[in-house]
Amino acid sequence: MMESFSLLHSIRISALVLSVTSALDPHELTIIILSQSEGYHVAHADLLKNDIQEQARSMDKGIPNVILTHNLDIKGSWTFVPLLPYMIAQYSQSKWFFFCEDNTVIRLPLLINFLSSLNYTQEQWLGHALYDREPTIIHHFAEHTKKFKYPNVASGFAISAELVHSLANKIVKGEGPNNDFSIDASYEFSSFILSSSKKRLIHAPELCVVSSRDCATYPRYFHPCTNPVPREKVFIAVKTCSKYHLERIPIIKQTWGKYASNIGYFTDKTDKNLPDAYVVPNTEQGHCAKTFAILEIAHKLMQKQSLDWLIITDDDTILGLARLLRLLTCYNPANPVALGERYGFRMWHNAQGYDYLTGGAGLALSASIVQQILESGLCHCPSPSSPDDMFIFGICISRLGVKPTQCSLFHQARPLDYALAYLASNEPVSFHKFWMIDPIKVYEQWFAESDSIYAKNNMHTEL
Ligand SMILES: *[C@@H]1O[C@H](CO)[C@@H](O)[C@H](O)[C@H]1NC(C)=O
Repeated sequence: MMESFSLLHSIRISALVLSVTSALDPHELTIIILSQSEGYHVAHADLLKNDIQEQARSMDKGIPNVILTHNLDIKGSWTFVPLLPYMIAQYSQSKWFFFCEDNTVIRLPLLINFLSSLNYTQEQWLGHALYDREPTIIHHFAEHTKKFKYPNVASGFAISAELVHSLANKIVKGEGPNNDFSIDASYEFSSFILSSSKKRLIHAPELCVVSSRDCATYPRYFHPCTNPVPREKVFIAVKTCSKYHLERIPIIKQTWGKYASNIGYFTDKTDKNLPDAYVVPNTEQGHCAKTFAILEIAHKLMQKQSLDWLIITDDDTILGLARLLRLLTCYNPANPVALGERYGFRMWHNAQGYDYLTGGAGLALSASIVQQILESGLCHCPSPSSPDDMFIFGICISRLGVKPTQCSLFHQARPLDYALAYLASNEPVSFHKFWMIDPIKVYEQWFAESDSIYAKNNMHTEL
């Protein structure tokens, strides 16, 4: 009796030892949170880090390395590439590297189980795979569609140490990517891995876009931080020019524009079709002087009415106004904040490269940063036709010591330019371009319902 018990016991123990030896210990995992230096994002990255460490402690195992990238101050870390040599140098004991955002929810025991089922000595990487439905502007109209997969970054993705090693070697040897513009980091990183290591992303359904019981990770939906910012506290500047007064402005006025309390149309010529417009200097391209003039006019209005935010859009931006004002509740207008969709220019050249906010997606500037741009004397346009987004919302704000804050809810292209699963994972605040779509339908499909809270109020004021 005693004997058979101890036999059974020893079988159990050896089975346990076997499974433990093949399992990944959390301390062999490095989790890299793509954090940002703006306060709301720092707070969320810290919460995620604490949550991961707490989960590891209650598993009674080692603690994963958790890196917040804004603390490293490695230029262009949001494109992943510059991080790889650093990770290999600092965390050589890690078997897996897991990249995620500050809004990724991680269930550590499930993530460890998932990674334990894989072989870290093989070059491989796994994520929630996205693919394009058709060639899209954000991916340079590349022809490869469904076969080419890239990860939904907010779901996180895992790279084996073996693959990180081999990529880091190539980067150090100067064989990293060399594209001038960084637009969609996930897509461009996947292209780099495919061309340099011949590895395609493996789809991992455990890394989810929408939460369910078995998910090891999923993106957390945005929750407003306070009551919505009143639309009376915001000035919206729409950049247009005379050739679009009849084609585009009526669509803006028919959709989100009708809900704005303070809205200005900034154009190049007086026109009876748009009598309420501000006339500012125009250039065929670049628009630096035009945008600077908009800032000057907006700043005066904002001071007079003590407004908190300036939103700048193109005349073909499709905005969800109510959603955008919910988003702004998480940012302090007394701080220098520039919020929108981030692009990068020459991220691989240490001296020259910089981040900037792309204009078409719409962007939000706090009253504080508008004042600094105008009063610092650091932001005069190099020429009237310098690109306004690259200069003012890139070079200029970096001279002020401000990093643009990236928010993946802003979109520089149309809904059909994005992967379906990606769009399902959060609530966009904008799209851009009226080309080959019905912008009114897009507005109705995405934003009309949330903006309908204003329809009630509009009726009240008219009564
Ligand atoms: C992991 O992969 C390596 C290299 O392909 C192989 O030699 C090894 O047997 C694999 N280990 C397991 C447990 O499958």
